[in-house]
Amino acid sequence: MTTTAITHISALVTNDPSLGDSSPLGLIQDAAVVIEGDRVVWTGESSKAPATDNAVDVGGRAVIPGFVDSHSHLVFAGDRTQEFNARMSGRAYSAGGISTTVAATRAATDEELSANVARYLAEALRQGTTTFETKSGYGLTVEDEARALRIAARHTDEVTFLGAHIVSPDYADDPAGYVDLVTGPMLDACAPYARWIDVFCEKGAFDGDQARAVLTAGRAKGLHPRVHANQLGHGPGVQLAVELDAASADHCTHLTDADVDALAQSETVATLLPGAEFSTRAAWPDARRLLDAGATVALSTDCNPGSSFTSSVPFCVALAVRDMGMTPDEALWSATAGGAAALRRDDIGRIAPGARADLVVLDAPSHVHLAYRPGVPLVHEVWRRGERVVA
Ligand code: NIG
Ligand code: FE
Repeated sequence: MTTTAITHISALVTNDPSLGDSSPLGLIQDAAVVIEGDRVVWTGESSKAPATDNAVDVGGRAVIPGFVDSHSHLVFAGDRTQEFNARMSGRAYSAGGISTTVAATRAATDEELSANVARYLAEALRQGTTTFETKSGYGLTVEDEARALRIAARHTDEVTFLGAHIVSPDYADDPAGYVDLVTGPMLDACAPYARWIDVFCEKGAFDGDQARAVLTAGRAKGLHPRVHANQLGHGPGVQLAVELDAASADHCTHLTDADVDALAQSETVATLLPGAEFSTRAAWPDARRLLDAGATVALSTDCNPGSSFTSSVPFCVALAVRDMGMTPDEALWSATAGGAAALRRDDIGRIAPGARADLVVLDAPSHVHLAYRPGVPLVHEVWRRGERVVA
């Protein structure tokens, strides 16, 4: 198999402290990376690089692992511009807006939905995202949820069943009946396409008991839990996520000390989604508090037409640094290795021998510029599975 060296890297983020300086980012100055097939086979200082078949000189730019966006909702139709406009005039965000997107999504054809996913994925890829998770949750019937997951699975392996996004409008008077549908026939139809099961555990969506029923039913079908938890207020979501060993508790905007402690003592990642606070004008999640307690933090987009219509991880990194108490190093780690941890993956989110060759060349001398130069398109090249897919 041919080997390719990426050379003349000013600063390389490996996310492997054993390879670079001993910081969590495992930084190497004046570095090179060698790729064979879809894998990284060597990482180190340029002067020590082995001979290869090809070489690509990146001209003194920084290289980071591809972003791992572990939380998005891309299978939808329509948009909610009016709702955003109303919010920016002072109206509060409400989970009720989800039903607007449910109606539009049900009315769309498979081709329209798939084209939408492809469009937002291409957008994300140009901004450095090489792995993304996406969910159902805008169908809320057996057929529409299964269809959403079938479409999602054409685009990614990280597919999540979120039939329990809100109680379907068709069951407005019978929420218990809807939970029975989600944990019965809907789960049966959806489980073959999904790796994960998720629930929106929040006032106005599902309470702790309902959420536990959904997640344990999913687990019995081989799906692994993740939870939309503590986004709009305090509640049982985070504790439930930890109790069920969910890979991730997502949002974590309103946490008690006991919630923070539970996360810190667990393998459950706290996935922060600052696009949602930005787009709903809500108070920021406190990343500093979670990091200081010892919790693992991931940063993702939550890309969806209601609460966070951005596919840009660099934008989320800049918000996290400016407003959530993260350092540029911590935010970069959370958007790469943190996302991988939230998907329980060790083949992505780092640039080290054996890892997938997913990496981003930045038009900048260091990863710090992602937060230092917010809003500037700094992604110069993207390599995914050893191939240059954005040049
Ligand atoms: O993660 N919180 C629940 N779900 C989405 C919002 C979905 C919507 O408003 O359409 C979220 O923010
Ligand atoms: Fe979400």
